[in-house]
Amino acid sequence: MKPGMSQEPTIIQGGMGSGVSNWRLARAVSERGQLGVVSGTALDQILAWRLQDGDPGGHMRRALGAFPIPAIAQRVHDLYFIDGGRASGTPYKRIPMPTIDAPVSVRELTIVANFVEVWLAKEGHSNPVGINYLDKLQLHHLPATYGAMLAGVDYVLMGAGIPLKYPGVLDAFANHQPAKYPLNVTGSQPDDDTLMRLDPSDYLDRELPPLKRPKFLAIVASNTLALTMLKKANGRVDGLIIEGPTAGGHNAPPRGALQLSEKGEPIYGERDVVDLEKLAALGAPFWLAGGYGSADRLREALAAGAAGIQVGTAFAYCDESGLAPEVKRAILEDVAAGRAQVFTDPLASPSGFPFKVVSLADSNSEKDVYDARPRVCDLGYLRESYRTPEGEIAYRCPAEPVTVFVSKGGAAEETEGRKCLCNGLMANIGLPQIRGQYQERPLVTSGDGLEDLTRFLRPGSFHYTASDVLDDLLAC
Ligand SMILES: Cc1cc2nc3c(=O)[nH]c(=O)nc-3n(C[C@H](O)[C@H](O)[C@H](O)COP(=O)(O)O)c2cc1C
Repeated sequence: MKPGMSQEPTIIQGGMGSGVSNWRLARAVSERGQLGVVSGTALDQILAWRLQDGDPGGHMRRALGAFPIPAIAQRVHDLYFIDGGRASGTPYKRIPMPTIDAPVSVRELTIVANFVEVWLAKEGHSNPVGINYLDKLQLHHLPATYGAMLAGVDYVLMGAGIPLKYPGVLDAFANHQPAKYPLNVTGSQPDDDTLMRLDPSDYLDRELPPLKRPKFLAIVASNTLALTMLKKANGRVDGLIIEGPTAGGHNAPPRGALQLSEKGEPIYGERDVVDLEKLAALGAPFWLAGGYGSADRLREALAAGAAGIQVGTAFAYCDESGLAPEVKRAILEDVAAGRAQVFTDPLASPSGFPFKVVSLADSNSEKDVYDARPRVCDLGYLRESYRTPEGEIAYRCPAEPVTVFVSKGGAAEETEGRKCLCNGLMANIGLPQIRGQYQERPLVTSGDGLEDLTRFLRPGSFHYTASDVLDDLLAC
């Protein structure tokens, strides 16, 4: 925090899914008094798989022991924990894919998993911790949020959508009241019931004291969206994060008709530049993200009236991040050798948003490696919800087998160039699925500033810590 000034952090370590900004990274940043943020994406899967890998270090089980409804924590433990870990070559136990009517076991797992990640990030210090969700992954919003709030999460950051109805969820859960959230369903009719619901009393075995209502920061890429969030949300929006197109992960598409560069990347123009004066005039605290990970850019952001910056890429490759050590090292070796490359792929993500991909040997960034992958959708986080001709809600992913996608009413053209992000992102963090002889390969993302990581690398050394990043940023 800036002493004597606002109570807001100067540096937000951005949420990075899945599991890249894990509890270790967020804790390391929050311990230093800046805002550490865990990714809330796929935490159900991540907890269940860490438990099946034997929970080295016992951290998951320590956090399960702190869960306020012990019977639920016990059920999760019993369902997934394998003492000593899975036998080699054994696949992970499948969790039913996300749906509007998810079984109770999945909802319980989601509540507990979000609790665990936040609880561990908060352990041993009293500074704030945040959690990041993507609004396009709506199916987990309610149980995930309740779990994070049970652990006392201080900030929720949400991007990839227009979550106007989300602040009301935080207000309801602060008093353990039922909450609802509308699911975006393609083709839905005005009378369709597309509301997701969660009533905490279905899970509680006794009365709990009210929970802290976390601050809500909306991640947006335009002045219009910033204003819409502040004016039209159904509850308080406590601040804005303005993310530009050089940021790692998904990017907002350019305004207007999509134009591609010679390399095949989306071209952003004047209309995509956020007017910071107008933004500051809205009066809400804001942070700038996307290529702001340096002391100079922090100074620039503060001079423009920002409360600070949100940084992803510099933290994604530090020791504490969840990226598998061999993935991190291979990429940092490429960075040191000056051959690291990031491509903003307009097609790879099933979500249809541009997604930045790091070129990495033997990973799914390489066409031949990806083409050798049997096309299958079995995690399903990025599936689109759609209305069937019978009026039911069903789910499809353009990275699933083409015939299956088309049989669900999807257009064959939509499937071209799509990649399975869900499995790739799990492989990135050392949790690859195995199906028969096939093991999932990584698909790594980064901001355009990847090559600037050389400043953290000493000759012959391919690692650095979250503290090194903070020291560098705060040297202004
Ligand atoms: C590996 C990686 C994964 C990311 N995943 C997410 C995510 O799941 N949700 C999100 O809102 N932003 C995500 N981001 C964006 C960061 O939170 C942050 O806004 C961005 O990285 C800032 O720009 P920079 O990369 O230039 O520092 C990701 C970024 C990286 C590098």
